[in-house]
Amino acid sequence: MVRVGVIGLGVMGSTHLNAYDSVPNAEVIAVADRDEARLRGEDKSKGNIDGQAEGGFDLSTVKQYTEGTDLINDPGIDLVDICLATPLHAEFAIRALQAGKHVLLEKPFARTGEEARRILDAAAKSKGQAMCAMCMRFWPGWDWLKLAVDSGRYGPVRSAVFRRVGEHPGGPFYSSGVQSGGAILDLHIHDTDFVQHLFGTPESVTSQGYKKVTDHIDHVTTFYHYPDGPHVVAEGGWAMAKGFSFAMTYCVNFQNATAVFDLSKDKPLTLYESGKDPVAVELETGMGYVPQLAYFIDCIQANKTPKRVTLKEAAQSILIVEAEVRSVESGLTQKVSCVD
Ligand SMILES: NC(=O)c1ccc[n+]([C@@H]2O[C@H](COP(=O)([O-])OP(=O)(O)OC[C@H]3O[C@@H](n4cnc5c(N)ncnc54)[C@H](O)[C@@H]3O)[C@@H](O)[C@H]2O)c1
Repeated sequence: MVRVGVIGLGVMGSTHLNAYDSVPNAEVIAVADRDEARLRGEDKSKGNIDGQAEGGFDLSTVKQYTEGTDLINDPGIDLVDICLATPLHAEFAIRALQAGKHVLLEKPFARTGEEARRILDAAAKSKGQAMCAMCMRFWPGWDWLKLAVDSGRYGPVRSAVFRRVGEHPGGPFYSSGVQSGGAILDLHIHDTDFVQHLFGTPESVTSQGYKKVTDHIDHVTTFYHYPDGPHVVAEGGWAMAKGFSFAMTYCVNFQNATAVFDLSKDKPLTLYESGKDPVAVELETGMGYVPQLAYFIDCIQANKTPKRVTLKEAAQSILIVEAEVRSVESGLTQKVSCVD
């Protein structure tokens, strides 16, 4: 059994608490939040997808800390699950790694590339395993796409378009560009990372974006350049009008098939193969959070370094987003730096 402590009880901490219920070889034994109403379970957060942060985890059954560092110092905890606001990721991940704990760190991996580098250095010296919670890599339908691309069964990908848009979540963290990094880092990174997962690091990016609800980039469209590879675009933002349903979608055109998925519509992932009737692809139900946690817990128990999302890739996704920010600000195509 892996004994877990969760730091930060906002939308993501609550989502992880629910998900651990379905992971038989993990047990949450402690939680930490500075906000005592959240520790008492009185202040509930709401996510942008139905099923996130549903509540129901009985916080009174576990140890409670008002300071995350005290939870890290609890000798009974094997895995520290960090669901804090992004600017706290580096500090808390490094402390937990230095304490020899296993660490699950919410996305984005860090607020900046420099902070990401420091986490990588701490992880290299730690006996703990660490993984960044890039949940789309485990999400039903997106995991299917990764297998379809890697297998080559529909031929090479010619073009891929990803889209993730909704209304602004509100609250001080998501309203501050300094804190959240804007939609370009906080939300759109899911697609940037998935593009990297499928096609590797792009040579350069061309992005356009605008500010509408915060002081940072609230909506972005990026062209990822692969000189010999597919034509890849992702659009992401939280600047839609109130009432707009959150949408995450893709349309991937292979040489011999087209796959279309739109999670906001009540429609299945549909595969169109030349000369055949369209097929609804059968998928696991649910979101990516349970398979993500189950995978990491299995890695910890087997003492194996996670491969489905490596720390280097999680750090690389920050560098790609930083190139996108430079491109929006300069109006020019920007080369992407690589994690050494
Ligand atoms: N993977 C996803 O789908 C997804 C979705 C939403 C958010 N996120 C990410 O999850 C992270 C958290 O987002 P959120 O919306 O849950 O944040 P949040 O601000 O609602 O929650 C963070 C909590 O941490 C607490 N906290 C702050 N400092 C603390 C400390 N020193 N010790 C203990 N608790 C402390 C705060 O009181 C707060 O309740 C962000 O990085 C965000 O980008 C991921």
